[in-house]
Parts: sequence; structure tokens; C-alpha cells
Amino acid sequence: MERVIHLKIIKLILYLCWSADSVLNQDLNNRHNSGTNPDSSYFFYQQPDYPKDCAEARDQCSTSTGSGVYIIKPDGYQEPFEVYCDNTLDSGGWTVIQRMKDGTIYFNRNWTEYKTGFGFLSQEFWLGNDKLSFLTNQDTYELCIDFTSVDGLSFYVTYNKFRISDEYSEYKLTSVGEYSGSEGNK
Ligand SMILES: *[C@@H]1O[C@H](CO)[C@@H](O)[C@H](O)[C@H]1NC(C)=O
Repeated sequence: MERVIHLKIIKLILYLCWSADSVLNQDLNNRHNSGTNPDSSYFFYQQPDYPKDCAEARDQCSTSTGSGVYIIKPDGYQEPFEVYCDNTLDSGGWTVIQRMKDGTIYFNRNWTEYKTGFGFLSQEFWLGNDKLSFLTNQDTYELCIDFTSVDGLSFYVTYNKFRISDEYSEYKLTSVGEYSGSEGNK
């Protein structure tokens, strides 16, 4: 049986709604409109305001809302990173944290590799415990796990509160909430 968080894969598209350029233009406009002192040019070099997860990415990205690779930066995380966002499931905005599909990636790995993550966003991967910890501690997240058997039958389970602690407390699952699930095709 395959186990994947989300099945829609395939094409790797990097959405650049939050590239430095677009944010720079946005800042320029804001500055212009609000009549800020033009001498305060350091505003130009502020860090771009990345979305904190795929839900925010979906809401902020006016040019494209397809599934694919987006750049996010959870609260407190030191730098932005790429994630695969699934915008086909329900109303979209799902941050994909793991995909296991065809066995091309080896999942029996050590602590360090699980900490930093491994694999390829377009194929099989584990996002990484550090990122997951920052992600799940900034808000309340629902976890959804999709399964598809080799004969194509699919089902999923969801937990309405999903939270992973930090490395210091060994990335413990600190909350999982209520379970619900379905069988058959979604
Ligand atoms: C974890 O695995 C990687 C890749 O095989 C290796 O380079 C690294 O030394 C390992 N780390 C530990 C702590 O065993």
C-alpha cells in the first residue's frame, strides 16, 4: 500500500508571487500611498513578507493558485523555504509534509536527516522536523493523511489538531486532536 500525504504530484512549478521583486514593488506602493518620509530608504531592504504556510500562500497569491511549490516562512523560522502546496484537496491551502509513493526515496534515516528533511518536493520527501515544529506551533493545524492502495482505492484520515514540539523536547507529537476519516473515493 502506498502512503502519501497528498497524491497530486507531478509537475514541479515554482510560484514566485513572493519574490523579492514583487515585494519591493508592493513596498514602494505602500510607501507612496501612505506618504512615508522618502528618506527612510531602509524600508526597501526589509525582508519580504513571506506567507507562513500554504493557506496564507493561497490567499495572498493573486496570480496563481495552482498546486505546486511555493515559498513560505513560518513565524520564528530563520529563513524562507520551499514547500509543496496542494490546492486541489477541499478548498486547498494544504502544506504537504510527506509524500511516499513509489519507493524511490529511502525513508529509514537518522535523526539529523529527519530534522532537516530529505527527498524531492516533486517526488517523495519528508519536509523536516525543524520546519514542521515551527509550522505547527504558529497556529492550529489539521493533519490529513491520504492513502491509496495498489488497486487504486483511496481513503484518508484527519486529525483536527496537529502539533510537534521542538528538537530540545525531541519533536514529540504534543497534540493530535479528534480523529475522523473516510473510505472509498473522495
Ligand atoms: C546521518 O546520515 C547521513 C547520510 O547518510 C550521514 O552523512 C550523517 O553522518 C548521519 N548522521 C549521524 C548522526 O549518524
